[in-house]
Amino acid sequence: MKVILLGPPGAGKGTQAVRIAEVLKVTRAASGDLFRENLSKGTELGKLAQTYMSRGILVPDDVTIGMVNAWINAKEQAGGFVLDGFPRNLHQAEAFEKQLDGKGGLDKALYINVSKDELVRRLSGRLTCRNCQTPYHISISPPKEEGECDRCGGEVYQRADDKPEVVETRIRVYLSETSPLVDFYREAGLLAEVNGEGTIEEVGDALIAEIT
Ligand code: AP5
Ligand code: MG
Ligand code: ZN
Repeated sequence: MKVILLGPPGAGKGTQAVRIAEVLKVTRAASGDLFRENLSKGTELGKLAQTYMSRGILVPDDVTIGMVNAWINAKEQAGGFVLDGFPRNLHQAEAFEKQLDGKGGLDKALYINVSKDELVRRLSGRLTCRNCQTPYHISISPPKEEGECDRCGGEVYQRADDKPEVVETRIRVYLSETSPLVDFYREAGLLAEVNGEGTIEEVGDALIAEIT
């Protein structure tokens, strides 16, 4: 099964991708995580992406599409995947469609809908594992050991783009460039919309119900 997670910054895409990948027994990635992994390895792609990410704006399409296509085509993803944060505009969505043409196409676009006030509250308290990118929240879902990832023991840190002024830009960019994809996937008959304002478990249950 091939699934994407659509929704504004802080909607819970990364949080829910972990559970969905486990249930579907498929791999997962977020385009943002792929950029951050490149940055921590010091690659040119990572350094370039960082100049956009730090401002909260989209990395250019050619760079993003090339990186994500390489991930999709890797043998690990042959059994399906959960992808979060890609596509992020109509041009990326069309490139993605083309890329999946010979692979049976996309099965579902899961849209997590959350209001702006809640997004800001979540992102201001978010902590992220530097190693496996699992998201935590300082009060809602903290790691069991302070500063240490439950899943891999990696260091838990605050993303630089979770600063209030960058969060504002990310939400604005989402509304202008990414939100049109909700209609794009609705018209394609692939959209499933879930209210993202319940607990992590409730939202997860609603998403799982859409794909099982
Ligand atoms: P990316 O890493 O994709 O960030 P994003 O879309 O802004 O989304 P987030 O990761 O911030 O939110 P999320 O929905 O994953 O929420 P999470 O589960 O962590 O992109 C970063 C940057 O990379 C972009 O700005 C851009 O520059 C670049 N980029 C990435 N993809 C690109 C593309 N395709 N094209 C071009 N550029 C691209 O949850 C958030 C917090 O809320 C956590 O603390 C969590 O614990 C908490 N939480 C989750 N669910 C709940 C709940 N139900 N109740 C209470 N708290 C909850
Ligand atoms: Mg994320
Ligand atoms: Zn980790």
